[in-house]
This record gives sequence, structure tokens and C-alpha cells, in this order.
Amino acid sequence: MKHPVLVTKRIYPEAIDFLRQHAELDYEGTDEGLAPTALLERARGKRAIVSQLTDRFSADVIAQLDPCVRAICNVAVGYDNIDVSAATKKGILVTNTPGILTGTTADFAFALLMAASRRIAEAHEFAHSGKWTRWTIDLLVVQDIPHRTLCIIGMGRIGQAVARRGLGFSMCIVYTDSQPVELDFPAEFVSKETLLRESDFISLHVSLNDSTRHYIGEAELKSMKKTAILVNTARGPVVDEAALAHALRNNWIAGAGLDVFEQEPRIHPELLACRNAVLAPHIASASVATRTRMSMMAAENAVEAIEGRQPPNALNPEAAAAAPGA
Ligand code: DGY
Repeated sequence: MKHPVLVTKRIYPEAIDFLRQHAELDYEGTDEGLAPTALLERARGKRAIVSQLTDRFSADVIAQLDPCVRAICNVAVGYDNIDVSAATKKGILVTNTPGILTGTTADFAFALLMAASRRIAEAHEFAHSGKWTRWTIDLLVVQDIPHRTLCIIGMGRIGQAVARRGLGFSMCIVYTDSQPVELDFPAEFVSKETLLRESDFISLHVSLNDSTRHYIGEAELKSMKKTAILVNTARGPVVDEAALAHALRNNWIAGAGLDVFEQEPRIHPELLACRNAVLAPHIASASVATRTRMSMMAAENAVEAIEGRQPPNALNPEAAAAAPGA
């Protein structure tokens, strides 16, 4: 017997084919997805939900979910859109898609680092403007990248992958995290204060939670070097966007490369006006192969859950014991 699964928004077709083989599928194949009330309605009678980072599963939404729902399978490594502890109490497994987007995301973080520091966006705009009339010795000059300090905030999988790319550019790596991490490459563990003071490039790789919300705010931006570049491919609210726009406008730091924003898809108007900010629409993991694998991994997690097995990427395996009838 196939169990019912809801997919809240369009995902890659391979994952849909797989789900059709193993589940009775209710597929909202649009890019708009479902409004909160429609989501609760469509979740009725479902055993699992394949969700995306734009679906909000607050404690309140989870309380209203049909008790049939046994798993929420996010097509993302981040899961700040889901109140995992509320889900656990209700016996709902939550899964994510770790590991498979590491390289693609790290590539993009490094691309933002390079774009912001080598002023690629400004150069592109200038070349297209028709204002380039002569070659000059100091047109769009910058500081070199090699031998400068790259700081990683959050030395998990993606942080390490970015650090490795930095080593390829002969950068010195420093990092901070809740504790030192065992690494197979040279990197120095430092305090947040030291890191902000000494880093040329800062790349954020923490997940969003109460302790990381506005981790970078006015005080942090003030303590950074004037030549520093900040890169954020983690989650928008890790940075106080208004403070960052102010810092960029007033040259407290040299530039920023941002893929994520506090209120996506809205970007703070003052950031839009900053020429020293390279901005992207949350696409760090956006390669065809990676997004296909993420869709498949979420679908596989959902099938494991509805067939009564532990999904490989369960964030709260203890939820199974709290499930109704467990
Ligand atoms: C994630 O997976 O959390 C990214 O933000 C989207 O790929």
C-alpha cells in the first residue's frame, strides 16, 4: 500500500518520478507553493511533506498539522524554517539534505569573495556603460587575494570547503566556532574578537538560530578592517542588513558578497544602492546536479519515513518515539 505524500512546491522531476513509484502523491508543482492555510489543508491525511525553505513550519503551524504527518523533509541543508523541537514533541521527523551541496555552495561563496574583492560587478557595469575611454594604471585597482587572511565563521562541511579553496589561493585560514574542529589542513582557531580585527575576508557558515541571529551587527562591522570583505551564503538574518548597508555606504568595510537576505526575496533598499555589494538571489547551491540531488534526497527521506524506516538524514530521530501510536 502506498502512503500519501505532499510536495509543497516544484522540485526536480526525477524526485517526482521516484515519489510516484513509492507514494500516493499530491504535488503542488508551482513555484508559488502553498500559502500557510492551503498548506495545512493539503497536509490533511498525508504521512510526509516534502518542503522547501520558503515553507514556514512554526510551532503554531506544527500544532495545527494533521496528526497523520510523520515527517517533514526539507529540500535544503538549512532548516530554520521548521521548529524542530515543536516537531519532535509532536512525533514528526524532520530531515534535511546535508553533504550534497557542500562543493557547489563553497564554489559560490568563493566566487562572491572574488567578485567583491576584484570588483567584478563594478567592472562589468563600467565596461557595459560605454564610459571606458582609456586604459589607466590604477583603473579599478584592488588588494591581492593571495597571502591574506580568510576567516571562516562556522567550520562545518561548507566552511571547510571554502577554507580549502582559500588555501588553493595561498590564503591564511583562521576560524571560529563553538569549539576547535579537527582539520586536515592548517587553520588557526581564534576568538570572534580576534577574527573580526585581523581578517581580510570573512565568510559566514553558521546555521541560523537564536545565538547566530545578527551575529554580525554594527559593533562587529565597526571592529573589522576597512579593507575587509564580508561574504554571506548562510542565512540572511545572521547579518544585520541595515547595519551592513550603513557600513558599506560609510566605508567601514570595503565590500560584501551576499547570497542570502533577511526578508527574502526582498533586499534592503540601501543594500541595493551599495556599489560595493555583490548581490545574488539565494543561488549558492544552484547547479542542476546539486538541486536534482537535493530533490532526490528529500524524496528518499520521505519514502523511508512513510515506509516506517528511519530516514538517513533525520535531525530528530527521537521524534519517532513520540509519534502517535509509537
Ligand atoms: C540550503 O540548502 O539550506 C540552501 O540555503 C539552499 O540550497
